Amino acid sequence: MVQASLSPAVPKPDHVPDALVFDYDHRNDPALLKDAHNRILEIAKIAPPIFWTPRHGGHWVLRSHSAVYNASRDTTTFSNAPMPYEALAHINANLPDDKKMLIPLPITVDPPHHTHYRGPLLKPFSPKAMLALKDNIRTLAAELVEKVRPDGRCELMTAIAEPLPVTIFLLLFGLPVEKGRVYRDLVAEHLHSPTTDSKAVQARLRKVADAMRETILDRRDNPQDDILSMLWQSEYNGKPATLHDIENYAVMLFIAGLDTVMNGMGLGVRHLAMHPELQKQLRENLALVPEAGEELLRRYTFTVPPRFLLNDAEFEGVQMKKGEMALLFLPAADLDPTEFADPAAYNLARENKVHIAFGTGPHRCLGSHLARIELQVLYEEMLKGLPEFRLDPTKSVTFHGGHVIGPDEVHLVWDV
Ligand code: HEM
Repeated sequence: MVQASLSPAVPKPDHVPDALVFDYDHRNDPALLKDAHNRILEIAKIAPPIFWTPRHGGHWVLRSHSAVYNASRDTTTFSNAPMPYEALAHINANLPDDKKMLIPLPITVDPPHHTHYRGPLLKPFSPKAMLALKDNIRTLAAELVEKVRPDGRCELMTAIAEPLPVTIFLLLFGLPVEKGRVYRDLVAEHLHSPTTDSKAVQARLRKVADAMRETILDRRDNPQDDILSMLWQSEYNGKPATLHDIENYAVMLFIAGLDTVMNGMGLGVRHLAMHPELQKQLRENLALVPEAGEELLRRYTFTVPPRFLLNDAEFEGVQMKKGEMALLFLPAADLDPTEFADPAAYNLARENKVHIAFGTGPHRCLGSHLARIELQVLYEEMLKGLPEFRLDPTKSVTFHGGHVIGPDEVHLVWDV
């Protein structure tokens, strides 16, 4: 892993009280990169429920369960749009299709536009539609596990956690599975790029959209039974879909569906590898896997979505200013001791099991049904296909921060 350096600290603005300053670099905090959720547990104990950090230009972090929950539902104060929808639409109106700025849909628009754009995705991502994919997911997961079994070891992320969701994504979208390598490279580029400035992000999103363009256009003219064809047949805000609309959805689903599931798999399997007694309990009763997967999602919640203040506001007693950024620190919310008794404990019998790993409010994850199936099926296939697996004691696990936290590599070993 490359040693990351802290973003320079900026001076605190006058409206931020000293008591609310807590120095935390969400990308490069050294303790986070060493052992992500240990650091998050610590922050959940010692940082103010809402704090301001001087890193990355200075911004708010909402870490308590109540702050995250209430802000997620208050779209008149907290916006998902880094730039107002109307301003972007205006810029794009005069540009040709392949030069338009990509707007990941529906996540970067607020209601009422959000409601129009989310609608067409509800059916294709429904529990019923996702269950229909389960057999494919299982076959793929079993094949990937079987491929590494005789070696007695594997690096989980490259051997399984990356190819599994990428292949499922291609199937779901009707993209050619034989182009898997191209998409895996695009995922890697997206994940490992250190730049977050909007030009670089646009350039990366454009590459993703360009890779899909041929298939996107083909599905407009030759509809099939896949999400791309279905999106072409929908209306957006009363108007027929444009190429730009479909590209906006495609880049969003690419980012949301791959990076997240991979990191969830890395965190979940690492926990199983550290806890042979849990593996034994689940092998003896595979029916417990869905519940075990939920507690893994709570204990290792890993996404940190941003919000942007639409107005000056007082939120839970804290003065915030228009234009400021606030991170929804979902991982800390799910480890908040005021919400979950003994939050560090992995406890299948805990009373309150309602985590917010998939967010809450109007932007709640559309892919949660798919993600749950992918995670549960992988755990089942690993438990069925491998004997007790452990972390390789000669290799350490390191983590990345940012908006999707997770392990870089997870080296596993087992007896053969
Ligand atoms: C374990 C895996 C996943 C986790 C933890 C996760 C988490 C989240 C979270 C927290 C949000 C809300 C973001 C916000 O409030 O700004 C979200 C939104 C979203 N997710 Fe997921 N996600 C996962 C997998 C997926 C998958 C597999 C897909 C689809 C292929 C997907 C598609 C989406 C979409 C489209 C949205 C935006 C919904 C909207 O804005 O209305 N996610 N996800």
